[in-house]
Amino acid sequence: MAKDFKEWLGELKSKCDIVSVMSKYCHLVQKGRGYWTCCPFHLEKTPSLCIYEYEQTYHCYGCKEHGDVVKFVQKIESCDFMQAVEILAKSVGMEVPNFSLKNDDGIEKRKKEKDLVLQALNDAMLHYKENLYKEIAKPAQEYIKKRKLTINQLNDFVLGYSVDYNEMPNYLIGKGYSYDILQKAGLVDKNQKGNFYDPFAYRLMFPLFNMYNECVGFSARILTNDKTKAKYRNSSNTVVFDKSNLIYGLNLLRQQKQKEAIDKIIIVEGQMDVIAMHKAGFKNAVACLGTAFTEKHAKQLKLVSPNVICCLDGDKAGLAACNKIVDILASEGFTVKALKLPNGNDPDEYIKEHGATKMQQQLDNAVDYIDFQIDYLAMGVDFKQSNQKTKFMRDVIALLDKLNSDSEKQVYFKHIRDISGIPTDILRQDVFNRNVTQTEQSSKIEDNLNIEDGSNKALKFILASMLYKKEYVNYNFNLKKYLFNDTYAKLYDLIMSKTNSDQNFRISSLYDEFNFDEEPNLVDIINYNFEENGNNEKYYNECLWNIVEKDLINQQAKLNEQFQNCTDVNQRKQILLSIAKITNRLKNKNMED
Ligand code: UTP
Ligand code: MN
Repeated sequence: MAKDFKEWLGELKSKCDIVSVMSKYCHLVQKGRGYWTCCPFHLEKTPSLCIYEYEQTYHCYGCKEHGDVVKFVQKIESCDFMQAVEILAKSVGMEVPNFSLKNDDGIEKRKKEKDLVLQALNDAMLHYKENLYKEIAKPAQEYIKKRKLTINQLNDFVLGYSVDYNEMPNYLIGKGYSYDILQKAGLVDKNQKGNFYDPFAYRLMFPLFNMYNECVGFSARILTNDKTKAKYRNSSNTVVFDKSNLIYGLNLLRQQKQKEAIDKIIIVEGQMDVIAMHKAGFKNAVACLGTAFTEKHAKQLKLVSPNVICCLDGDKAGLAACNKIVDILASEGFTVKALKLPNGNDPDEYIKEHGATKMQQQLDNAVDYIDFQIDYLAMGVDFKQSNQKTKFMRDVIALLDKLNSDSEKQVYFKHIRDISGIPTDILRQDVFNRNVTQTEQSSKIEDNLNIEDGSNKALKFILASMLYKKEYVNYNFNLKKYLFNDTYAKLYDLIMSKTNSDQNFRISSLYDEFNFDEEPNLVDIINYNFEENGNNEKYYNECLWNIVEKDLINQQAKLNEQFQNCTDVNQRKQILLSIAKITNRLKNKNMED
C-alpha cells in the first residue's frame, strides 16, 4: 500500500487517464497535440477546450478553466477535492485509504451504520412514493391536483405520502431494520408510552437529497388547515443530514450541469417554488429549507456557478431574507442580482398567475444586488420627513462603504438620487470624504505587485522552458538566487529535483502542489505558448540576461547609496571597486561573477 497520500494520489492519477475520464462527459475530437471539445463550463458552439494527453491536463482557451483530472471531476461534478478523488477511485476500483486515523476500530462500525441509515431512508422514500398512488392517499392526490403538479415533477422530486403513524415503521421493521436504525435515520419518534411512530403522518413527503443523490431526510407538508401544527415538518439532524447545509434541488442542478453549462443559479424560498420553477422550465432554481442562508450554502453553490439571482418571496419576510442572502453571496465572490416579485408573490404564485414568460421577464429585469439593497433601505421611508431622510442617507452610506473603490460607489448615485431626491453632489461629498480603509490600501499594494514587469515575463519564459525540458536550458545557471517569489522558488526546486533524480515529471502533479486559482503566473507557465518558428534559444539567453541585469542594477543602486553615506576613506574605496566591477559586468553582459 502507498505510504502517504501524495504517493497514493499519484497511483490513482496514473490509473485515471484524463482523456478517458473526460470522454465520459464530453465529446472529444483528436487534433494535433491534443483532444478538443466544447467546454462544459461555459456556453459555446465551437470547441475551445483542449486536453493534453502527455501532460494529463486540460485548458479552455475560452473561459480559461484548466487543471488536471481531479480538478476536472471537481468542476463537472460540482464537488470538492476529496469528493472528486472518491469518485475517481470508485471508477477504477481503488479504495481511499484512511491516512490520518489509522487504528480507529470505530470507523468501520460507523460506516456500516451510516450505510444502513441511508438504505432505510431510501426504502422509506420509495415506499412513501408508492403510497401516493394508493386509494388511501386521497388527501395528497387532491392537494397535488390543486397545486397542478404533473407526473414529471412528482417523479423528478420523488414526492410521496405518509398514510398514518404506524404504516411506515411497520413496513421498515418488516424489512428487517431495527428501531434503533430508524431512530438514527430520523424516520421514527418515540411517544410518552415508549412507542415508536412516524413523525410525518398524513403529510406530503418531499425527500431531501445530498450531492450523491442519496435521500438523507424529508420535508413534509401538512395537508389540513390545522394552524396549530407547523406547515412543514423537517427531519431532525442525523449522521447523514445537516439541515443548515442542505440545498433543495442542488442534486438536480448538478445533473443539469452535466447536460449543459449552467450560467446562473436562481435562489427561491421554498421547495414548492423550486418545483414550480422547474415546471416552468427554470431548471436552475434551488432553495434552502427555511433555515438561515450561510457561507456553507454559498460554497456549495459556488461549485456550480458564480452567478446568482435571488428571487425570494415578495413579502416583507422574503425581502428581508433576500437582503441578507445577497450580502453573504457577494462576500463569497458571486455576481449577485436580486428581484422583488410584485404583490408579495412567491415564484410559485407568480408563475401560476402570470405564466413562465412573465417570470422570465422578471428574471431578465433582476437588478444588481446593491440596487436591490438601496430599494430595500428606501422601503417605507417618507423622504419629506427630514429625520427619515437622514437615517436613509446614513444607511445608504454604510451600504456603499462595503464597496472597494470610489468608482464602484459612484455607479449608484443616480439611483439613490432618483428615489430620495438627494443631489449627487451631496452624496459624493458624504461618501468620499471618509478615511481610506485598510482594504483599499492593501488592494492598491496588490495591484502594484501584479503589474507585469519585464523580468516577470522573462522568468515565466525561463521556468516554462525548464518545465518543458527545452534543449537550450542551462541547468548550471543558478536561477534560484534571483527568485524572490516563493511560488517560483518552489517550482524551480521541484523541476530541479525531478531533473536530477531522472524521474518522470508529471506536469499534472503540479496541481497537487499549488493552488492555481491564486497563481495566474503559474497558469501562464503551464500553458506557455512557445513560438514555433521563433529563436527560442536566443530569447532564453536574453531572458537570463534580463534577470541578471536587473539584479546588477539593483546592487549598483544600493552601493551608490552606501557610498553617499560612507565617510571612511578605505570603505569608500572598496565600494567604488565593487561599483566598477558591476559596471564592467553590465557593459560586457557578463552573466557570472
Ligand atoms: P413558505 O411558507 O413560503 O413555503 O416557507 P411555500 O413553499 O410558499 O409553502 P406552500 O407549500 O407553497 O404553502 C418557505 C419554506 O420554509 C420552510 C419550508 O422549506 C418552506 O418551503 N418552512 C416553512 C418550514 O421548514 N417549516 C414551516 O413551518 C414553514
Ligand atoms: Mn412561499
